[in-house]
Amino acid sequence: MNLPADHPLVDGRTAASALIRAYRGERPEITPIWFMRQAGRSLPEYRELRVGTAMLDACLDPELSSEITLQPVRRHGVDAGIFFSDIVVPLKLAGVDVDIVPGRGPVMGAPIRTMAEVAALSPLEPDALAPVAAGVARTVAQLGSTPLIGFAGAPFTLAAYLVEGGPSKDHLRARTLMHSEPGTWAALMEWAADVTGAFLRAQMLAGASAAQLFDSWAGSLSLADYTAYVAPWSKRAISYVHDLEVPVVHFGVGTGELLGAMRDIGADVVGIDDRIPLDEGIRRLGGTIPVQGNINPALLAAPWPVLEAHVLAILERGKTAPAHVVNLGHGVPPETDPTVLTRIVELVHAAR
Ligand code: CP3
Repeated sequence: MNLPADHPLVDGRTAASALIRAYRGERPEITPIWFMRQAGRSLPEYRELRVGTAMLDACLDPELSSEITLQPVRRHGVDAGIFFSDIVVPLKLAGVDVDIVPGRGPVMGAPIRTMAEVAALSPLEPDALAPVAAGVARTVAQLGSTPLIGFAGAPFTLAAYLVEGGPSKDHLRARTLMHSEPGTWAALMEWAADVTGAFLRAQMLAGASAAQLFDSWAGSLSLADYTAYVAPWSKRAISYVHDLEVPVVHFGVGTGELLGAMRDIGADVVGIDDRIPLDEGIRRLGGTIPVQGNINPALLAAPWPVLEAHVLAILERGKTAPAHVVNLGHGVPPETDPTVLTRIVELVHAAR
């Protein structure tokens, strides 16, 4: 393990936490739970802190990124923090003209579609990651025995934004490019894997105890395309943390047909979205790997008895895997009543 001696996984702070034990395949006394996008617009304290600061500026301010990361941990009592940042932060740090437009998402100054445009992309200088490492270090110093999850976007999801120039419904241009210009595609995916891999490694070395690779848009791909044009580059991205021996979670939306291939890039845990029943996802994975998921975000706004029954059913279905970490099938919707999230944490922690 090439982590520093004062890293929380090494010095005893987080190695025995419920989250890390579950990610390693054990069944701790409580079933751990955290929420994707737990830091964000569902929290009034987040909205207050963000007034007057652009999203990407907030991500690169160690004091702000740390405080925003800690807010949902204090409020909900979740079993992990997830570092407040964004998948496009390493693109920005490598010099790409990208902004996050509220209500829309990441928007590029110009799309990257040709070999010349890919060749003009700069590598990510290690020093550029200093604000990320500082934010993580500051967060971990205050989290104590609660592990911090570091994350990165997978090369395909990043390429979906880069090729399109912004958010898109079907990521059609990226899906065309992989077939029409496989050489350009490979060069773009290699650049994205290296940039996002370095971003992930910086978070882990600075004190994060687990890693999650988000391939949010992989569900738009056939298994054949995923295997040929995407999986090798996701594997390359997580190779950046291989020697650190941290647990790696791999998640995407609508990936019921891809679960086995997503595990096979070298993931230790597979995140399952809410489009298939959790036990069906576990069955497709052979019942041998820990899973994370898969509360339907739409039910967060349903009457409590409906939501409660749904969460308890997911806990039951999760028992068919070696270990289970409860999460949503995708991120917390901004309009969610945060007291509902706290209530879910209490329910999961009290359940047997
Ligand atoms: O709590 C957490 O999960 C950590 C924070 C986090 C953010 N983005 C903060 C954020 C994480 C893990 C991400 C990853 C991310 N960003 C993904 C992968 C996960 C997923 O949701 O599928 C993707 C696809 C992005 C790209 C992105 N960034 C989108 C689509 C948006 C939404 C734009 C909008 O306004 O609707 C963002 C912005 C963003 N990232 C916000 C947050 C809290 C909202 C910005 C704001 O409140 O101003």
